[in-house]
Amino acid sequence: MDSSFTTNRRNLLKMAGAGLGALSIPGLLAAKTGDGFIDLRASKTPRKLAGEKHPASDLWLYNGSSPGPEIRVIQGETVRVRFTNELDDPTSIHWHGIRIANAMDGVSGLTQEVVKPGETFEYIFEVPDAGTFWYHAHNKSWEQVARGLYGSLIVDEPSPLVDRRNDLTLVIDDWRLDNDGTFHSASLGGLGDWSHAGRLGNWLTVNGVSQPTFKLTKGETYRIRLINAANARILQIDPSAIGAKVIGYDGFLFDGPRDTNGKVLAVTPAQRVDLLLTPDDASIRKLNDVGDFALQELSGQEALSMALFEFIEPEIEVRKNTSLLLHQNAITKPDLASAKKVSLVMEGGAMGRMGRMMHQGRMMERSDIERTRQMWAFNGVANLGDEPLFRTKVGETIMLSTNNQTGWPHGIHLHGHHFQIIEHNGKALEHTDWRDTFTINRDETVKIAFVADNPGKWLLHCHMLEHAAAGMNTWFEVA
Ligand code: C2O
Ligand code: CU
Repeated sequence: MDSSFTTNRRNLLKMAGAGLGALSIPGLLAAKTGDGFIDLRASKTPRKLAGEKHPASDLWLYNGSSPGPEIRVIQGETVRVRFTNELDDPTSIHWHGIRIANAMDGVSGLTQEVVKPGETFEYIFEVPDAGTFWYHAHNKSWEQVARGLYGSLIVDEPSPLVDRRNDLTLVIDDWRLDNDGTFHSASLGGLGDWSHAGRLGNWLTVNGVSQPTFKLTKGETYRIRLINAANARILQIDPSAIGAKVIGYDGFLFDGPRDTNGKVLAVTPAQRVDLLLTPDDASIRKLNDVGDFALQELSGQEALSMALFEFIEPEIEVRKNTSLLLHQNAITKPDLASAKKVSLVMEGGAMGRMGRMMHQGRMMERSDIERTRQMWAFNGVANLGDEPLFRTKVGETIMLSTNNQTGWPHGIHLHGHHFQIIEHNGKALEHTDWRDTFTINRDETVKIAFVADNPGKWLLHCHMLEHAAAGMNTWFEVA
């Protein structure tokens, strides 16, 4: 057996399958204690990432599980999480995509103090929107998320779209393993990753497992929630290849299902895609010409099966869906006419143009990179400065125009708000979908708009976590 984990995706594929049973339910569910709190503990946990034949790695996990336990609540509910840090490092938890009260946003150093080793912090917040969200560490995220500190946060609609058994969460991660199949910790923080595409891995998992199989009953309708929890890999998928339609992004559902017709969908780190799939005999026959019922990751030179779907005959009565009306979250539309315009120029990184760059109030020299580890900038400023990108008052519409002058694609995440993408390279879009993270390729300009209605100091950063650490990180204030 070729032991190289770094060069050949096909080898990974071969190694994967053995010994993994069918898995139709995502990770375990977070249980509430008597006082209504969910207990979350971050700790070092040994895990055999690459299968039984390989040594275990010390991952950093919530409640010892990879991904962390799924937190499942109902729209409008108050979530109570008692978080205890059993790691040797300080940390905090961010509830990604939730339009949350600022003090609960979990950003170490901006919205709260770090939770030190041995300490407990209570997160108590309401969830205004239904949808697919996730939670992850937000202190040195580039290291802590890479080591496994993340999980799904699913907010159910008051009347869910499909039966709970037909509602699947797929948390996808891209790990970097050493030749012996253990977590590659020596390369954490490498300047090469920071200045290029970020930390890319060589071992894809779905719900902590390589290539799990999901058994889907013919004739029933499934909701499949994809969450990209990778540090930096942009997943590329073709939902139509398994007969699925796309029904929403980043927790917010569209007004109807969309057929992607073979067009590849990019899912950047932190983004979510919700799919709807009803395998019936006709569709299966059609799909069979294509091959396996596999959800593939297409960003590499060869397609890699992330998850397999086995379509099985119904044993009992098929659970039919009477209505597939997609629930719309209530959110105020931006008022473009009165919008405050903000522009953001992204610069830096390897092979990119780097103009003057400020860091902590000082002009940087090329020779400072080694020491400061800063190499990307928003409007000439690397990382958080004393001044925000902009200040605004509650209720104002912000129109943010981002121009990517780096040589790389990025995924930009706005904290505390959802926005609409209104223009791409100067052209209006067919759908102004709600998102919390947008993709921007090199030389592109993306215009987003949102109502700044959530008071506080909020982050705006690249969710390729190495890029954020190396400068693609700023903040804004809603007062
Ligand atoms: Cu998902 Cu600032 O993070
Ligand atoms: Cu980036």
